[in-house]
Amino acid sequence: MDKWRIKDVLNWATEDFGKRGLSSPRLEAEVLLGFALGLSRLQLYTSFDRPLEDGELGVYRALIARRRAGEPAAYLTGHKEFWSLDLLVDERVLIPRPDTETLVAAVLERWTKGPALDLCTGSGCVALALARERPEAVLDAVDISEGACEVARENARRLGLERRVRVWHGDLFEALPSRNRYFLITANPPYVREDEYAAVQPEVRREPRLALCAGADGLDVVRRILADASRWLEPGGILALEVGIDQASVVAEQLGPALLGYPAEVMADLTGRPRVVLFQTVLDKSS
Ligand SMILES: C[S@@+](CC[C@H](N)C(=O)[O-])C[C@H]1O[C@@H](n2cnc3c(N)ncnc32)[C@H](O)[C@@H]1O
Repeated sequence: MDKWRIKDVLNWATEDFGKRGLSSPRLEAEVLLGFALGLSRLQLYTSFDRPLEDGELGVYRALIARRRAGEPAAYLTGHKEFWSLDLLVDERVLIPRPDTETLVAAVLERWTKGPALDLCTGSGCVALALARERPEAVLDAVDISEGACEVARENARRLGLERRVRVWHGDLFEALPSRNRYFLITANPPYVREDEYAAVQPEVRREPRLALCAGADGLDVVRRILADASRWLEPGGILALEVGIDQASVVAEQLGPALLGYPAEVMADLTGRPRVVLFQTVLDKSS
C-alpha cells in the first residue's frame, strides 16, 4: 500500500476528532502532527504530499490515542501559545485560555506605572505577557501550588524575564512581603462552582482541581482577593479579575462594592461575554 502522506493523515485525524466532538479538530490534528514530525503548522502545509515514515506514523498514532483518551493537546506537546509567547505547560498548571488575553488587553490600556502583582499565576501567562509588553516593569506572581510556581519560574527563565517576574509560593497575599504595594493587581482565580465541576469535559478534569474549583458558588477566592486587595494597592491602583461567564454582575455590583468599596467596570471577551471586572481605587480613599 502507498505510504500515508501528511495531507492524508491530517484529513483522517481531523475527521476522527470531529466525530468525537472535539471543538477544533483540524487545529488539534495539525498541532499534534507538527509535534510528532518536529514541523511548524506552516511547514505541514508546505509539505502536504510528503510521505510519513513508519516510525513517524507510529508516533502520531500514539499521540492520537492519548488525545482520544482525554489528554489535552497542550499537555501532549508540553506547549501552549499565549499572547504570542510560547509557554511550557504540564499537568501542574491550567492550560492558558485565549479568553484570558482579554484580561491582559484590559489592563494594558490602563496600567501606566509601577510594580504589578499577578495572583493565581499558574503557568505565569498573565504576568509574563504584561512583562513582555512593559520592558521597564517589575512584577510579582503568586501561586499556592509549588508545581505551578516551578512552571512559572521556568517560563520566566526561558523568556528571559526572570529578573523582572518574581514568583512567590503561597496563599494569595500571604505569600508576599508585607511592605509590598502595587499599582496593578491581576488575577485569573479559580471560579468554577462545585456543581459545575461535576459536568466539566473529561479533558478539563486533567487540569489541576485547585486551578478550577472555588467553593459552592465558585467565588471563594474572588471574595478573599476583594476583601484584602485595598491594603496592597497604591492609591489610584487597579484590581482586574477574570470571572466566569455568569459571574461578572455579582462581582461588579455586589461583592466588589461590599468588600473592596470601589466602583467596577466590566469588560467583554472577544465573543462579547462579560469576563473581566476592573476596579480602580481613588487617589486618596479618605478624601
Ligand atoms: C484558573 S488558574 C489560572 C492560571 C493562570 N493565571 C492562567 O490564567 O492560565 C488558577 C490558579 O490559581 C491557583 N490558586 C488557587 N488557589 C490559590 C490561592 N489561595 N492562592 C494562590 N494561588 C491559588 C491555582 O493553583 C491555579 O494555578
